[in-house]
Amino acid sequence: MTDDGTLQNPRILLIVSGGIAAYKALDLIRRLKDQGCSVRVILTQAAMQFITPLAASSLSGQKVYSEIFSLTDEAEIGHIRLSREADLVLVAPATADLMAKMASGHADDLASTVLLATDKRVLIAPSMNVRMWEHAATQRNVATLKSDGVLFVGPAEGDMACGEYGLGRMSEITEIVAAVMGAVSGSTNMSAPLQSLKGKHVLVTAGPTHEPIDDVRYIANRSSGKQGYAIAHAAKAAGARVTLVSGPTSIPPPEGVKHISVLTAQEMRDATMEALPADVFISCAAVADWRVTKVSAGKIKKSKARPPQIDLTENPDILTEVSRSSSRPRLVIGFAAETDALIQNARTKLSKKGCDIIVANDVSSGTDVMGGEENTVHIVRASGVESWPKSSKSDVARKLVALCAGELS
Ligand code: PMT
Repeated sequence: MTDDGTLQNPRILLIVSGGIAAYKALDLIRRLKDQGCSVRVILTQAAMQFITPLAASSLSGQKVYSEIFSLTDEAEIGHIRLSREADLVLVAPATADLMAKMASGHADDLASTVLLATDKRVLIAPSMNVRMWEHAATQRNVATLKSDGVLFVGPAEGDMACGEYGLGRMSEITEIVAAVMGAVSGSTNMSAPLQSLKGKHVLVTAGPTHEPIDDVRYIANRSSGKQGYAIAHAAKAAGARVTLVSGPTSIPPPEGVKHISVLTAQEMRDATMEALPADVFISCAAVADWRVTKVSAGKIKKSKARPPQIDLTENPDILTEVSRSSSRPRLVIGFAAETDALIQNARTKLSKKGCDIIVANDVSSGTDVMGGEENTVHIVRASGVESWPKSSKSDVARKLVALCAGELS
């Protein structure tokens, strides 16, 4: 155990059941090993239709198990020992069928027998078609498993291999790894990133900018800074060195974070570029796209003739500049605040601004995302979109930080 309660080399017993997401288990093994885990793998018969024992054993560096009635396996290590010599049993992907077996206590193959025999925490990453996930039988099984103390990561919402869309996709590997690390540390928060960003510099922008019209008036927006501050806080909790460049907000800066207070987009741009290099840049600020071309000295007087005409000039785009800079962080994440065509506009921003990920959120009136406590975000990459369920801004921040840790590992 380390000082923060983390197991130093967690032993993970990974059970892979037979769904299309089984091919991702190979990457999962690699990512778990990157985190210092030792991984022993059980493949169900159906899983072997998707991946081979040879591939799983090459990546895990250990023998792979699949038969319950195998004389050699039972002589070497019985199924009871398999379940006991682990700090956590992880089922990824967990098919509807295996979950049904678990819920009703079946033990008719190696995977289900080990799951019934284990005295360790069990974490499952469901993966199935949206209709199968929504089916009353599956939902009954989910409730039973939850009341039995089984931990869940996902499923996520998104495009499915079968061409449908909805809830049922296996969570991203980075999220599963974060959940594993949370579970082996005894954390109840399955997205807790622990010290996963130790030694990394995370640069975050947050809040609105104020673009002066004259000495007393300015152009602003409804951003409160809550989402960006939550990200800075979560990155700090994950062990990162954090710089937070913030527009005007009423939130106290998170402890231990370098806080740089700015007013305008130009000031935010200068402070951000000066804070580079960084390993990760997260551009959460609602930067004004335009500033007033000629700021008036004093207070513009109200005249009877006509209201003043305000001419606007485009502000520098900080996210694009960081993405294209010679000291580009390894991971550049932008946000997209949209009121229509959310994913389509987010995809355009992803390529136009040259970032690795866009976190898309709907800020239409009625969503209460700007200024509110909760957010519903969609992780948009060139390779696809993952939708996260509505949650508190702190949870979104923790998951995003876990995702960053996974990307950097
Ligand atoms: O602050 P809260 O009340 O908690 O609300 C959170 C939030 C809604 C502000 C946040 O989740 C969010 O969506 N932030 C991005 C807001 C925004 O300006 O989005 P945009 O789609 O206009 O810009 C796209 C990206 O480019 C953003 O990463 C933005 O920071 C960046 N940008 C925009 C303009 C500019 N001149 N420079 C930039 O860097």
